[in-house]
Amino acid sequence: MRVAVCPGSFGPITLGHLDIIRRAAALFDRVLVCVMTNGEKDRGMFPPQRRLELVQMSVADLPHVEAELWPGLLADYARQRGAGFLVKGVRCGTDFDNEYQMAWINQSLSPDLETVLLPARPEFIYFSSTMAREMIRYGQDLTRYLPSAVAEEIGKGMG
Ligand code: PNS
Repeated sequence: MRVAVCPGSFGPITLGHLDIIRRAAALFDRVLVCVMTNGEKDRGMFPPQRRLELVQMSVADLPHVEAELWPGLLADYARQRGAGFLVKGVRCGTDFDNEYQMAWINQSLSPDLETVLLPARPEFIYFSSTMAREMIRYGQDLTRYLPSAVAEEIGKGMG
């Protein structure tokens, strides 16, 4: 069985993230969405448990896709779950440079772990969680950026 991990901060999950998860689900037998809880991005609008809930809501209709929190190294998570692949989306050259570096760090930690980079679809190139947080702050229409269940859920909190 080919198991892939889609890792990220997901603060919050965007339509761009969901597109990568869907495409990974079409390529692999099982996809584990790993909501990382370490790093700078933990503080603020979306605490880890909330980020996980929003991811779970977004992938509920996708068979063979599950989500969980992980506080440690991504390579350790993949090893523990028997995953041989990391799947990441790439929007631009800066993303590629960062992903290239992370791919080799992860491969040095776990030599059999392969990183698969998927080009973001053009309509999602300007999407980011940072941009989504900005739209939330200014009360903009979230359905253009976030999975519908997430936009609805966050919209309720703002009402
Ligand atoms: O959504 P993001 O913030 O771009 O995702 C980055 C993330 C969380 C995937 C990356 O920072 C990561 O893998 N963190 C886990 C810690 C780790 O394994 N570090 C070594 C590889 S860079």
